[in-house]
Amino acid sequence: MTVFFKTIGFSIGLALVFTLVTQLLPQVEGEAPVETKVDLASLTMDDFVAMGEDLFMNKGTCTLCHKPPPIGRAPDIQSMDMVSTSSERLADERYQGESKDAADYILESMIDPSKFVVAGWGKKGSNDTVSPMPAVDKAPIQLSAMEMDAIIAYLQAKDGNEVTISLPSPEAAAEVVAAAPAAGGVAPAPAATAEEALGKYACSACHAMDSEDPLVGPGLATVGARLSETEIRQSIVDPAAVITEGFPPAMPADFAEKMTVRELEMLVQHLAEKK
Ligand code: HEC
Ligand code: HEC
Repeated sequence: MTVFFKTIGFSIGLALVFTLVTQLLPQVEGEAPVETKVDLASLTMDDFVAMGEDLFMNKGTCTLCHKPPPIGRAPDIQSMDMVSTSSERLADERYQGESKDAADYILESMIDPSKFVVAGWGKKGSNDTVSPMPAVDKAPIQLSAMEMDAIIAYLQAKDGNEVTISLPSPEAAAEVVAAAPAAGGVAPAPAATAEEALGKYACSACHAMDSEDPLVGPGLATVGARLSETEIRQSIVDPAAVITEGFPPAMPADFAEKMTVRELEMLVQHLAEKK
């Protein structure tokens, strides 16, 4: 009898371990990316808007932060009419920028986010004068002017507003390989180094890498001194397992699905060495 139960206990334990391992194991080495050039000569405004939506969800990493409460770490701009919101921002006495209309304001929010900080959303301790949003035309996100235009077109069009952005000229866009699968785009290549992986997954949009100052998440300059390799790996593949005190559960939960094993291990090694 006892032996029987012990065996069952052992099998259950084993089954649990197996499920855990499967859950923790990200997809295997990424397949070679397929590069597709978008035919911009025949691009319509609907295509451009679709490209903007895709950039918003994927390459632009906007939905890392801009998503509905309570998980959102930024105003839920997908459910806000950004054209009427822009008029309110421009009329606000705290507004410090030079924008004249909604398209200007949205662009300014992307490249110089501290020009206007939405009340309650400023960086901790800055009294709403410094935005925690990274400039999206800079590394790691690095959108081109055309990509930002596509996002503006999307934000205008999604609520039925007139799109005031012009389509890119075929010449200007000829060399662009779009990141937008909607427009026939590309699966990103596996990163070759830890630094590349930090950029590819926009970790530094939320984490300072050279200081301990909090951004959206904790600074990681000396993370290797407070977390073991195992804990760092878990923070990346299963962020909800342990929530760092004083921070919201805002870290994306799908890195394990997106990363290759090699990318994950490079990141873990790199962070574990930061002491
Ligand atoms: C790391 C988190 C983060 C990411 C990534 C991010 N944002 Fe933001 N964004 C914020 C926060 C926080 C605010 C509110 C503070 C402020 O006004 O700057 C904000 C504000 C804005 C605003 C102004 C909203 C308003 O109500 O006036 C716009 C527009 C915007 N973001 C667009 C974008 C777009 C487009 C992207 C992707 C290309 C993006 N953001 C990526 C955090 C982020
Ligand atoms: C949208 C913002 C966001 C992004 C993007 C993000 N993180 Fe985080 N991260 C957080 C937040 C918030 C916490 C603290 C809450 C928690 O523990 O989940 C955190 C916690 C962590 C921790 C634990 C830190 C500690 O001191 O306890 C590690 C390690 C970490 N992140 C690594 C990464 C890596 C590597 C990436 C990129 C692959 C990444 N993060 C991307 C927001 C983010």
